[in-house]
Parts: sequence; C-alpha cells; structure tokens
Amino acid sequence: MNRVWWKEAVVYQVYWRSFMDANGDGYGDLQGLMQKLDYIKGLGIDVIWLNPIYESPDKDNGYDISDYYRIMPKAGTMEDFRKLLIKVHELDMKLIMDLVVNHTSSEHPWFEESRSSLDNSKRDWYIWKPGNAGGPPNNWRSYFEPSAWTQDERTGEYYFHSFAKEQPDLNWENAELRREVYRMMRFWLDQGIDGFRMDVINLLAKVRGFPDAERPEHIDYLGNNPGIHDYLQEMNREVLRHYDIMTVGEIPFVTPEDGLLYVAESRQELHTLFHFQVADDMPVWNLARFRHIQATWHEAFRREGWNSQFLNNHDHTRQVTRYGNDGAYRVESAKLLATMIHTLPGTPYVFQGEEIGMTGVHFPSIDDYRDIAMHNKYREAVDKGEEPVRVLRDLQPLSRDNSRTPMQWNGEQHAGFTTGQPWIQSNFNYAEINVERDLAAPDSIYAYYQRLICLRKMHKVMVYGDYADQSIGEAHVYAYTRSLEEETWLVVLNHSDVQQLYELPAPWKERFEHAQVLLGNYDGPPSKDRVEDDGICLRLRPHEAVIYSFID
Ligand code: GLC
Repeated sequence: MNRVWWKEAVVYQVYWRSFMDANGDGYGDLQGLMQKLDYIKGLGIDVIWLNPIYESPDKDNGYDISDYYRIMPKAGTMEDFRKLLIKVHELDMKLIMDLVVNHTSSEHPWFEESRSSLDNSKRDWYIWKPGNAGGPPNNWRSYFEPSAWTQDERTGEYYFHSFAKEQPDLNWENAELRREVYRMMRFWLDQGIDGFRMDVINLLAKVRGFPDAERPEHIDYLGNNPGIHDYLQEMNREVLRHYDIMTVGEIPFVTPEDGLLYVAESRQELHTLFHFQVADDMPVWNLARFRHIQATWHEAFRREGWNSQFLNNHDHTRQVTRYGNDGAYRVESAKLLATMIHTLPGTPYVFQGEEIGMTGVHFPSIDDYRDIAMHNKYREAVDKGEEPVRVLRDLQPLSRDNSRTPMQWNGEQHAGFTTGQPWIQSNFNYAEINVERDLAAPDSIYAYYQRLICLRKMHKVMVYGDYADQSIGEAHVYAYTRSLEEETWLVVLNHSDVQQLYELPAPWKERFEHAQVLLGNYDGPPSKDRVEDDGICLRLRPHEAVIYSFID
C-alpha cells in the first residue's frame, strides 16, 4: 500500500467558535486558536481541521456562506488567518479547511441575483422548479426542514435546499458555477493551506427529474446520485491533483462498496472519507454492529481505499457520553475509545475536548440550545401537537449542541473560554473536567492521548497493518490484530462496566510469554488465568484497554 503523510497523520478538529475567545465577544476566534497552538502541538497532532471561517450570516454556524473570499468577523480577519497558517506551519503542522460547496447562504450575492428574475444570468446556478398542484415540486424532506423546497415570492418558483431554507443548493450541472468554485478552491490552496474537509460532498449531484420518493423520511435520495463522480473527477483534474494536499469527503448514506468509488487511488477523486454508519446509525454502543461495520469497510478498502476513524464531531454527541460511560468510568472509557479509534485502520480524528474526556450536556430549556437543526425539529414536532417537554427530552441525547459547548480550559468562569458571555453555555462540569487539571496529572486522558499518538509515530503497524478481528461472537470484548511485516499488535477492549474474561485465541496464546505491553488504561496489564487445554484468559477490568505487541 502506498505510504503518504495523511495516512500517518492524526487530525485535530477545531470548532473555533467554541475553542478559545481572545477578544471577549463570547465567540472563539483565530487569535484564540493561535494562543493554543502549542497545546495542540503538545498532543502530537499533525493536521488541524478548521470548521468554516468564511463570511456568513451564521444561521448554521458558518455552513451558510455568503462570501467565500472573506473571513467572518467573529472569527477574525484575513490577516489573522495568514498569521495562523504561518504559525501552524512553523510548528510543523498542517491546516485543512472546510469546503462547503453543496450550498451557499441565501444571502450570498449569487443567490440574490439568481432569485431576482427568471432570466437572470445566475438563475441556473441554483435549483429552481415551478410548484406542483399548488405545493412544492416533490415530496422530499431536507435534513433540517419538513420540505426540501421553499417558494420564493419574487418569481413564484421553488428553490431546492438539502438543509435549512437559508442554505439553497448550488446547481452543479452548471459549468460556469463549477468553474467559479474551482477558482475559489485554488485561491485558498494558493494561500498555502494543506487540504479540504469537504462538506456533504456526495450531495452535489441530484436525482434527475426530482421524482417523488416512496419513503420521503429516508433522505438518502439526497446523496450518491449519478454524475457525482464526474464532478469529483473534474474537480480533481482542475484543482486537487496540482497540490500536495489531503482531501477528506463527508459522505453520508454510503456503503463500503460505493465509498470505495470516492477514494480508490486509481480513480483520482478524494483521498479519504467520513462515512456515517456509526455516527448516524448507531445511537448507542453496539459491539456487534460496530464490528460488522469495521469488517465490511476493511474488506472493501484493503487494496486501494483509505478510511477515517472518528466517533464524534461538531454534529455528533461526545463519544464518552454516547459510546462510553461518562459517569463512574469516564476516564477509563474515554481512554478505551481513544485506543480503539487510533488502532483501527484509517486516519484518526480527535474532536476538540475529546482528549480531556469532555461530556455531552442537558440544558433545561430549548432556549438554551443554539442549533438550527434542533430548533427546527422542535418546532415541527410542537406544531404537530406533541408535548414540548417530551419533544425536548427526545431531542436532547443527539442534539448537535452536545459537542458544541465551550472548550474547558480551567475551573474559572465559563471554563476559561471567554471573559465575556459565551454564545452557548459551558457544560456545568468544567471545574472537574478541564485542560489545566489534565495537564497536571500524569495519568490523565490527555497524557494517554499523547502516548497513543506517539506510538503512531514509532510503529508503522498502527497505520498500515492488516486488520483481523480476534473476538467474533464475544458480547462485550472487542479484540483485533494489526500486522505488518514482523510486528503484530493485539488490541483488547472491554466495552462494559463489569469484569470480562477474554480467552486468547491461537496463535497468540502460545506466543503470549513474549508479548510486550505497549499501552493500557489501568495500572499494569490485566491478570491472566490458565484455563483448560492450555488456554489463557485475560481478566479485563471495566472499560479496560490494552495493546500487546508481538515481534517475530
Ligand atoms: C455538514 C456539517 C454540518 C452542517 C451541514 C450543512 O453535515 O458538518 O454541521 O450543518 O453539513 O452544511
């Protein structure tokens, strides 16, 4: 397999508006991020992914862009951005930016022109259709609204939006629009950035003719439509292949086989992707399902694809809350999940705050939440007559605001994030869970991440090793090997609140005397019991994680 830097890298996601506020306006900013670059570097990070910083009315936290060439004042200025990029490079890290080109803001001048009349030269840059029998053109839902269409009073036609009505979709069939997008991408790459995280990039092509959907609530008709690979190959030809960069596509609703079409090296589209078989479809920990997902993606990608490993981001509830135990075993389970993500095949991502075990939130009122997706769903359900208290309770566990609360730097007011009023409240637990505490404790979650990331730099098996499940049928223990040349790792994870016995499979039990423990989340490795027929059982403590290395 081809060896390249973005496979060996560990990426840290900075949701800047909640990271560090340098000017006291309650929003994180680029200056604040600059103050904390040493912190990120200290973790061992290679690449920073920055959520959108472009000019935006900010209805969807920057994913509604009104000017691709300017920086949103809340984030800072172009000069701040240039300084940031220099500093990131001085620290020998890289910076990738969000690329949001499925849609713009409805306040983007392109859309303002487009909506102005039927014969405007940019009419065709967006997707317009006349209504159907007094209603929208078809029965599709959008991610954030009951209908994917909004009627515009100026011309009476409807425009299409996969997300909120303030986020009209661009019409990628229009070649002039595509050229304009490529020009914008070159502008940022020529500034010296190191790649893009591409927002919902598999949504660019739409189903021809927009027929009604049989099950409109399953919005998978929004993505992976014919034509998408032509666009991405063109984008690669026109822009991407001319730079030494990393590209990671956000690709919802995709199977491993179809995922490969986006990232197979020979096809020259993207380098890697985020699929959502875990984050979208596994609301709580489910080992059987997770193991199946890993097996099928590994099988599809082993020859020429590259995966990304993550369990949370700015759209998904924090991993220790969702897939671990954020109560009695918060520290152990945060370390276990980290061990898993960093030792599975693919590039691992750390979402800010994950490295200190930050948890999800439960705010008492809908007014405490900021997320447009949650507010729209709340309104829709309440308008239908559902009980507001219940609606709130149902939406809370997966609200995107779970992971958007301010980074917890210390035990001071607002967790040391801002001297002003934060745009969203801090999690109440910041006195206990914060960076200052973790930096002072040698056995902290942060220190564990440092060790884990350091291992990646020292052992290529962690990056390129072949994967094999060693725990098929186990209810709570997930164990697998990674093997490369003469080195094999055995990773053993107890995903439960109680002790578990794990019997070592052949050939590892015969060779166990010579295994070396590389890392574990308890003091000392698990104890071993001899069992019948020369077997060996590991006695795993709750949420115990351990990595063994075998050298031939
Ligand atoms: C992606 C982003 C999300 C945003 C949406 C629309 O899923 O991660 O935050 O709301 O796209 O741009």
